[in-house]
Amino acid sequence: MAERKPFVGGNWKMNTNRTSGSDLARGVVDGLLTVDGVEAAVFPPFPYLLTIRSILRDRGSSVRLGAQDVYFQNDGAFTGEVSLAMQKDCGVQQVLVGHSERRHVLGEKDELINKKLRTVLEGGLVGVLCVGETLDERLAGHQDIVCSRQVRTGLAEIPGSMIDRLVVAYEPVWAIGTGKTATPQDAQDAHAQIRSQLSRLYGAELAARIRIIYGGSLKPDLAADMFAQPDIDGGLVGGASLNAGDFVAICKAAAAAGKSK
Ligand code: 13P
Repeated sequence: MAERKPFVGGNWKMNTNRTSGSDLARGVVDGLLTVDGVEAAVFPPFPYLLTIRSILRDRGSSVRLGAQDVYFQNDGAFTGEVSLAMQKDCGVQQVLVGHSERRHVLGEKDELINKKLRTVLEGGLVGVLCVGETLDERLAGHQDIVCSRQVRTGLAEIPGSMIDRLVVAYEPVWAIGTGKTATPQDAQDAHAQIRSQLSRLYGAELAARIRIIYGGSLKPDLAADMFAQPDIDGGLVGGASLNAGDFVAICKAAAAAGKSK
């Protein structure tokens, strides 16, 4: 049995509506009812958090509720932003920070991402720090430098005592929404590099406890091979998480891999 419980997140991004999101959540809950050995979470758009929370609660599901982003201030004149306190009020348990679309479409920088991650971890929730190189960076052979920098700056001033609530998602930008996945070996190499960086920051013992998950065009047919890699502890799923059957299949693959590690 793996020391690290596999984690699979469904990042719905800016998709679904109240009806389709509710149907999706019901499908995920029903599909995972008898599945153990995996921590599963869904990350719906902000306006549907309460609706999805009540579906998860009504059915007594262990599926966690996540948010796709957060602002680092508690309250005040920050039009359009959503604080951690508001999210906790809506039942959020986990928060994505530094997703590649926030970095590359919305222009977020490492320093802002660090403030957000500190807010989440200091606030007692699980923070999923997303890192990953662009295609140009990979072609230049810079993937390890880029991921190391994103991990180091993302975790600045975060003490080891909070690290049990950290998940790192390796999501190569060129693999997100493109149908191109990293090979299991390339992904494993990147995860091993990230774990060494975590080890330099927090020591080998703590680094060995941190879950590092893969994201980027992850589909059920590739999941088992991906999760069989020693440093791949689950996945962050975009497109395939919009189909309950596919998401459940990926969660089951993670649970099975965790049991045989
Ligand atoms: P896709 O699975 O659609 O490539 O998205 C991955 C992702 O960005 C998850 O956060």
